[in-house]
Amino acid sequence: MTETLTALLFGAGARGEGAYGPYALANPDQINFVAVAEPNQVRREDFARKHAIPADLCFESWEDALVGSKIADVVVNCTQDQMHAESSIAAFQAGYDMLLEKPIAHSLDDSIRIVKAAEEQGRYLQICHVLRYTDFFQRVKQFLQDGTLGQIITFSHRENVSSWHMAHSYVRGNWRQLELSSPMILAKCCHDLDLLVWFIGEPAVNISSYGSLRHFRSENAPAGAPQRCTDGCPVEDTCPFFAPSIYIDMTPLKYALSQSTNPIFRIAGSQSMKNPGLTKAVAKMIPPLRELTEYQGWPRSVISDDPANEASLLQALQEGPYGRCVYYCDNDVVDHQVVAMDFESGITGTLTMHGHSQEEGRTLRIDGSQASLLAKFSLNRSYIEIHDHRSMQVELIEFPITIEQSGHGGGDFGIMADFVSRMKKGGKPVSRARESLESHLMAFAAEDSRNHQRMVDMSEFRAMVEIDPEIMEAK
Ligand SMILES: NC(=O)c1ccc[n+]([C@@H]2O[C@H](COP(=O)([O-])OP(=O)(O)OC[C@H]3O[C@@H](n4cnc5c(N)ncnc54)[C@H](O)[C@@H]3O)[C@@H](O)[C@H]2O)c1
Repeated sequence: MTETLTALLFGAGARGEGAYGPYALANPDQINFVAVAEPNQVRREDFARKHAIPADLCFESWEDALVGSKIADVVVNCTQDQMHAESSIAAFQAGYDMLLEKPIAHSLDDSIRIVKAAEEQGRYLQICHVLRYTDFFQRVKQFLQDGTLGQIITFSHRENVSSWHMAHSYVRGNWRQLELSSPMILAKCCHDLDLLVWFIGEPAVNISSYGSLRHFRSENAPAGAPQRCTDGCPVEDTCPFFAPSIYIDMTPLKYALSQSTNPIFRIAGSQSMKNPGLTKAVAKMIPPLRELTEYQGWPRSVISDDPANEASLLQALQEGPYGRCVYYCDNDVVDHQVVAMDFESGITGTLTMHGHSQEEGRTLRIDGSQASLLAKFSLNRSYIEIHDHRSMQVELIEFPITIEQSGHGGGDFGIMADFVSRMKKGGKPVSRARESLESHLMAFAAEDSRNHQRMVDMSEFRAMVEIDPEIMEAK
C-alpha cells in the first residue's frame, strides 16, 4: 500500500463532500481522494476541483467507476441508503476495501448480504458509526468500564431530533418514506443502538417498541395553509416549519449558535438574530460572522447547488420538495418511537427517538449501584455529570465546542483517522462491521415489534446471521 491512502468516493453529497472530503484536505499525508463518482455535475466538478481530481477520474456513477482496473486503494461509499448493497458488493468484487456510510443498508437482508460479501471477498469493511469516535462517548464508555457507576442497573437514552431537522430530513427530504429510504429507527438511531450495545457490552435479549407518525399529517394542517410555504401561508409567523425561516433566515441555526458554550458562536448567533443587517455589514471583517452570513453548509447545500445565493434558495423553496407544507408531504415514517430492551445480565433500558425537540442532541442517563451518569451531547453544549450516591458529590465534565471540531462532535474526522490507520497498520478498529450489524438487527427487531405489536426475542433475528463470537470482544 502507498504511503498516502488513495480513495475513490461514491456520492459527493452532504456526507461525501461535507463530512469526509474535508478530512482528506486537512490531512493530505494520510488520505487523498483521487477519483469521484457522482451523477450531479455541479457536485462532481466541485469535489474534483477541491481535491484536484483529473477529468479522466471523474465518473457519472459508481458503476462507471468500477469499469476497468482498480484506481484507488479504497472506496468511501456515501451513496444513499438504498444504493449501498449493489454498489458495495460490486466494489468488493472489484477488489476495494471500504468505509461505508450507515445504515449498512435499508433492509435487513441487504445489511447481512453486504457484511457477508465483504467477508467472503476478504475485504475490509468499516461502517460510519461515527459517534463511537467522539471524546464524549469514549468518556461515557470509560466510566462504565472503570466501575465508577458500580453495577449497571438501567439506562434511558434519548435521541432528540430538532423539529426543523425532522421537517427537513424525515418529512420533506430524503428519509421521509420507507419505500425511498429506511425506517427512521434505523436511519436515525442505528448510531444510538450501536452505542448502547457498546456501552453495555452484551447483546440485547428482548425488544419491544411503540411509535407512530402523529403530527405531520394533513388532518393537522392549519386552516387555510397552502401546499407551499411560499404561497402566502396564514400561519407563517408562528409555524415552526416555515421553510423560508429555516433555509433563508436560518433562524434555527442562529438560535442554536446563540445557545452555545463557545463564546464566539454565542455572539455570532445572538447578534445575527438581533441585528441581521448590521451583522451582514460587519461580517466582511469578521470571519466567524462571515461563515454565518454566507453560510453554504447543510441543510442549505442539500436544497440548492448554489447555497449562498438567496435567489436560488428561494427558487428551491418555490419549486422543490423543501418548500412543501409539512402537512401536505408524501411522508410516512414515524415522528416518535420508543424502544424498550433487556440484556443478558438483567440490565434494562429505553431508547426514545422523536422529532419535536427545541434543540438537536442526545441525552443519556445510566443508573448504577454506586453512581448515576447524566449526560447531554448537543451542538451547543456537551457534558457528563457523575452523581456519586455515597458522597453526594457531583463531578462535571464539560466538552468544549470548538470551531475546529468536525461534525458529530469530532466523530466524522475520528472515524476517518481510524479507518486510515487500520488500512495502513492493520489492527482492530473501534467498531467492526460485524459489530455494526448487531445495532441493525435491533433496529429491525424494533420495527417488527412496533408493526406487529409484539415483543421480539432477539435470538430470532440473530438466527438470520451467524454472529461472530467475538462480537462482544470490545466489552
Ligand atoms: N454517519 C452519519 O451520521 C450520517 C449522517 C447523515 C447521513 N448518513 C448517510 O450517508 C449516506 C449519504 O447521505 P447524504 O446526506 O450525503 O446524501 P446525499 O443525497 O446528499 O448524497 C448522496 C449522493 O449520491 C449521489 N448518487 C446518486 N446515484 C449515484 C450513483 N449511481 N453513483 C454515485 N453517486 C450517486 C447523489 O447524486 C448524491 O449526491 C446515506 O446512506 C445516509 O443515510 C450518515
